[in-house]
Amino acid sequence: MQTIDKQNLKPNNNISSLSSTSIGEQKKEKIGKKVAIIGCGYVGKAVASYWYQQGYIVTGTTTREEKISDLENITHNPVVVRGDNLEAIEKVVEDQETILVSIAPISDRQVSAEVYAQTYIPTAKNLVTVLNNNSTVKQVIYLTSGSVYGDKKGEWVDETSPLDTESDYGKVLVEAENIILGLKREDIKVCLLRLGGIYGPGRKLNKRLGRMAGKTLPGNGENYVAWIHLEDIVKGIEFVQEKGCHGVYNLVNDMKLNSKELCDLICDRQQLERVYWDDSKPSFSSLNARVDNSKIKQEGYQFIYADTLI
Ligand SMILES: NC(=O)c1ccc[n+]([C@@H]2O[C@H](COP(=O)([O-])OP(=O)(O)OC[C@H]3O[C@@H](n4cnc5c(N)ncnc54)[C@H](OP(=O)(O)O)[C@@H]3O)[C@@H](O)[C@H]2O)c1
Repeated sequence: MQTIDKQNLKPNNNISSLSSTSIGEQKKEKIGKKVAIIGCGYVGKAVASYWYQQGYIVTGTTTREEKISDLENITHNPVVVRGDNLEAIEKVVEDQETILVSIAPISDRQVSAEVYAQTYIPTAKNLVTVLNNNSTVKQVIYLTSGSVYGDKKGEWVDETSPLDTESDYGKVLVEAENIILGLKREDIKVCLLRLGGIYGPGRKLNKRLGRMAGKTLPGNGENYVAWIHLEDIVKGIEFVQEKGCHGVYNLVNDMKLNSKELCDLICDRQQLERVYWDDSKPSFSSLNARVDNSKIKQEGYQFIYADTLI
């Protein structure tokens, strides 16, 4: 089992952060680059804000008029768009060089597989339709999930491993990925990033899992989960964008913990009662695999929060 440094709650300071000189040096090339972010939620807004500061011309979408004001200071062009509206997607994509897709169902709770499908599938189809008739876009970065690997009984998986086409949710994610990968334009790089569960400001694991202290969760706790910090998502997106990466990459950190180990770690360091497990019930998580991140590291990506869970 992996040794966990319970005191090490700080990011890897030896690694260049988002405002590093190497990124700064390339700033000149970025000024004026036209980028669109479809889905300015937790991740989309963080990327929008970063790209905006870098001098890109940023278009950002939300599905709700009332959220436009949130985007006014971090995008040049905030627009209300639903992915199932072909014309709206066409307008967003027009004249852009890079498209980031960062959509997820709108709900605080787990939604049905049908709602999942209504969110991901029409957006992916419309985007591919539009891109087949577009000459400006050079790269599409599509955010998907490590949960596409499904239950592999805790085995290691990499980008070539078989995907979960059995579960209702897995089927939707895999279908959406395949639609995007079906874009056959040699002049457009298509990069899929399979993310772990997202943590960061406002989504701190200490708080989220600390709330579970002393409670009983479904499953035996032995399923492996994968995590990624918001800053690594922003930096990872910038990395694949600058490098013009094409293909599928896992963007998950180095922590390979099962749910029980993770909850114990978080509760112990806050001196909270541990979580209990009820193995008569199925786990919440559809992923049970150790997701390998070597491919993106081999490209040269260095994690900020490689083994830090906060
Ligand atoms: N959360 C996780 O732990 C996790 C794990 C693995 C992968 N991911 C992936 O990471 C990405 C970012 O997740 P997030 O946490 O930033 O999501 P989020 O905060 O829920 O934001 C999702 C965004 O998608 C927009 N959206 C929803 N339905 C749409 C539709 N039909 N058409 C167009 N836009 C739509 C939302 O619109 P509004 O602005 O109107 O809300 C929002 O801007 C997603 O691709 C997600 O699948 C997330």
